[in-house]
Amino acid sequence: MTPSIQSILISESQLQGRVRELGRQISEDYKDRDLVLLCVLKGAVVFLADLIRVLSIPVRCEFIQLNSYGNKTEPSHEIRVIQRLNDSLCQSDVLIVEDIVDTGGTLSFLMTQVKALKPATLKVCSLLDKPARRRKDTVIDYVGFEIPDTFVVGYGLDYAQKYRNLPYIAILDLA
Ligand code: PRP
Repeated sequence: MTPSIQSILISESQLQGRVRELGRQISEDYKDRDLVLLCVLKGAVVFLADLIRVLSIPVRCEFIQLNSYGNKTEPSHEIRVIQRLNDSLCQSDVLIVEDIVDTGGTLSFLMTQVKALKPATLKVCSLLDKPARRRKDTVIDYVGFEIPDTFVVGYGLDYAQKYRNLPYIAILDLA
């Protein structure tokens, strides 16, 4: 049975407000650069869709699909590449767009993959940061919200592929 929602952690208006702020900051920082947003599927797709619409600078979008969770609530130690990168990131200013950095395993793996493609610069933007669970050292250049160690869904994040369509971030009732 799919667990139900316990409570809303970040409301729709809080999300939209913070995404606008991030968009302003990124537009300023990448003015006159060759910005490529690299979206990590599937979870980051909702964040990316909102973020690109508040940017005031030209931008390209690329996608990679990684999976570390399967249908469980604990990350596996193995990261699978479902959809690969192509070489369009070479010499570009790459900004990885993630929905959440939890253990940091996915981001650390991805940074290694992207660096091998020789981008001009490489930075990270994550909507959510859950530092209490970190196992790998990771630098996140743009963070939407720091959250406590609780399982969250919505705004792209799932539980067994469900709840990605919620317009807010909610805490799941796993009890
Ligand atoms: C989630 C999330 C991040 C990763 C973070 O992806 O989107 O990519 O886990 O966890 P980590 O910091 O512990 O590595 P998931 O593997 O669940 O795939 P999905 O985005 O398709 O839901």
